[in-house]
Amino acid sequence: SKGPYAHYMLKEVDEQPSVMRRISKNYIREDGSINVDPEMLKEINKADRLYIVAAGTSYHAGLVGKNIFETLADVPVDVELGSEFGYHMPKLSQHPFFIFLSQSGETADSRQVLVKINEMNLPSLTMTNVANSTLSRESNYTMELLAGPEIAVASTKSYTSQIAVEAVLAKALGELKGVQAAKDLDLKEQLAIAANGIQTIVDEKDYIKQLSADYLDGQDHAFYIGRGIDYALSLEAALKLKEISYIHAEGFAAGELKHGTIALIEKGTPVFAYINDGVGASHTRGNIQEVEARGAHVLVIANEKYAKPGDQIIIPEIDEMISPIVSVVPAQLFSYYASLARGNDVDKPRNLAKSVTVE
Ligand code: M6R
Repeated sequence: SKGPYAHYMLKEVDEQPSVMRRISKNYIREDGSINVDPEMLKEINKADRLYIVAAGTSYHAGLVGKNIFETLADVPVDVELGSEFGYHMPKLSQHPFFIFLSQSGETADSRQVLVKINEMNLPSLTMTNVANSTLSRESNYTMELLAGPEIAVASTKSYTSQIAVEAVLAKALGELKGVQAAKDLDLKEQLAIAANGIQTIVDEKDYIKQLSADYLDGQDHAFYIGRGIDYALSLEAALKLKEISYIHAEGFAAGELKHGTIALIEKGTPVFAYINDGVGASHTRGNIQEVEARGAHVLVIANEKYAKPGDQIIIPEIDEMISPIVSVVPAQLFSYYASLARGNDVDKPRNLAKSVTVE
């Protein structure tokens, strides 16, 4: 039930700190070692490339995961949309391993890929919130997201749990391979930092609601920009806004603005800029100046490490790789309040179903 909440979405946003703690408790032992199926790890360790297949928000979690696996497990990763990949399959590597990301475990676009790779006898794992789902049953291995039932159509806690579970697997694989970055990462500590960081943001709802009104009331278009990890995050932030507020939103690699999109910036256009990626931080600051010079109404969401006076939202310090777990939360709340302000059905937006079981 929704309990005291007006909408499932808000309840599910608020549950994210406890979901992080649950993932930590279930997958990381007291001594910091990772508790995952050793057989599965051995199988993944044979792979020369991982293929992450997903749709929508899960695809965006896959884009964040690519960087995590490449850094911690030193393995190349491709992230693919199920709806594209199944019918336009690229030349695969010699020893591919497939990871299906799906909250519901029922997404038909991803399943048709699984059917094909099963015919090819290729190994796979499903990361899902629904243990006995179709994708879970039809792949070789399953890792549960442990997010608890997600009822609102807009995915929130399943996105953050997917990133956390990807980090769990990447660390385990990296340690097996002896990768230093995996040994160095204290994931138990990082997930605790993530839980506290989310809590700090959800405790500021009145402020975020006010920002949402200041930036989005009466607007038909909005942009999210960022670089690196913040680019992947911008795609998810924009999707959240589109699907429940019906505001046209785009996520862009900040450096791409000048290659076309900046033509859309007018006086008052809302631009949400993410600065959690250290390498890209100063360049994104430059892009902020460029859009401000053209009249954009810029809101900055910056990591404590890179924050400057005047930034509207500060994200507590966290390992950059998994920082979207925290920095997505303001975007989830902006879209919630914008949807509410427009009188939309927040939990059941028009034209959408929770689980898309047709191709
Ligand atoms: O159940 P899945 O994770 O496979 O669903 C994939 C997408 O349909 C889903 O993430 C969709 O994009 C959500 N409505 C986003 O909030």
